[in-house]
Amino acid sequence: MSAYSETNFNSQHYDDSRPNYTPQFYSKLINYQKQKGSFDLAVDIGTGSGFVAFELTKYFHQVIGTDPSPTMIDQCNNNTIKDNITFVIGTAENQPPTIKSNSVDLITGAECCHWVNHEKFYKESARVLKQNGTLAYWFYKDPIFINFPEANKIYENYTYNSSIETNGDSFEKWMGNYYQQPGHDYLRTLLKEKSPPTDLFYDIVRQEYIVDRDGPPAPQEDPFETKTPLFIRKIIDMKWFLNYVKSWSAYHSWMKDHGDKYDIAEEFVEELKNKMNWNDDTKVEVIWDTVYTFSRKR
Ligand SMILES: C[S@@+](CC[C@H](N)C(=O)[O-])C[C@H]1O[C@@H](n2cnc3c(N)ncnc32)[C@H](O)[C@@H]1O
Repeated sequence: MSAYSETNFNSQHYDDSRPNYTPQFYSKLINYQKQKGSFDLAVDIGTGSGFVAFELTKYFHQVIGTDPSPTMIDQCNNNTIKDNITFVIGTAENQPPTIKSNSVDLITGAECCHWVNHEKFYKESARVLKQNGTLAYWFYKDPIFINFPEANKIYENYTYNSSIETNGDSFEKWMGNYYQQPGHDYLRTLLKEKSPPTDLFYDIVRQEYIVDRDGPPAPQEDPFETKTPLFIRKIIDMKWFLNYVKSWSAYHSWMKDHGDKYDIAEEFVEELKNKMNWNDDTKVEVIWDTVYTFSRKR
């Protein structure tokens, strides 16, 4: 995840090119918290550009966003205008000293808990949470192009595969090998392998949503009722998609090795446009596989 620590990493670009989380999802989370928890302090780990932490200030007296990347933390502090929110360097496995044992009502981890050492993360979360405090983390995986299996295949190649192994290329033309492991594999399986340990946590809820890749267009009924509160759908064009690819850590790592040859995000989008007969303004529907896990500290 070192790409997020680069001093030239732009968190505003990151914000504009990434999906956000639905009001229905925040309301599900807050209702879970209301059942047994209080609303004094929330900590958003892997806060990135801080947008989840800012959202939590609507409900909590105090919010702290933490991230290992000094670049992200500096940019968040520069954007802060509220006095009930601060941003501090820290990891999921080692909370900063300002966060005391048994002091936190809610820990959130959005799109970051696949990168962590899970045993340490669960233990550290249990240490700083109050009794009955909530540990909540969630992910989205890949945008699925609805009704375009060929586009999904191209996406899979660029994101998960090695062009050296598949095509015998002289250098990597895809980004599969440029993701940190095992984090990317965990994302691929929506972290099925790991769960909050039951000696430390109870009331564990895990809800996964897998997109019907080749099915009909998304139904008109309320997806938040019928599917998941973490339903992330967007109508995108290729200009948005180009920026999305440019926000990936693997893109930044690939560019470090091969950026003198060409820009892999532009190459990826060109291939999609050529093979799918799309142009920059073609609108396509994408939906993300998602998962969320809520649990309470014993
Ligand atoms: C994809 S960004 C997610 C940002 C934001 N939470 C969101 O929902 O978009 C992943 C973040 O996880 C952070 N990260 C990497 N390793 C971490 C760790 N061990 N503990 C906590 N955060 C970590 C990165 O610095 C990065 O800001």
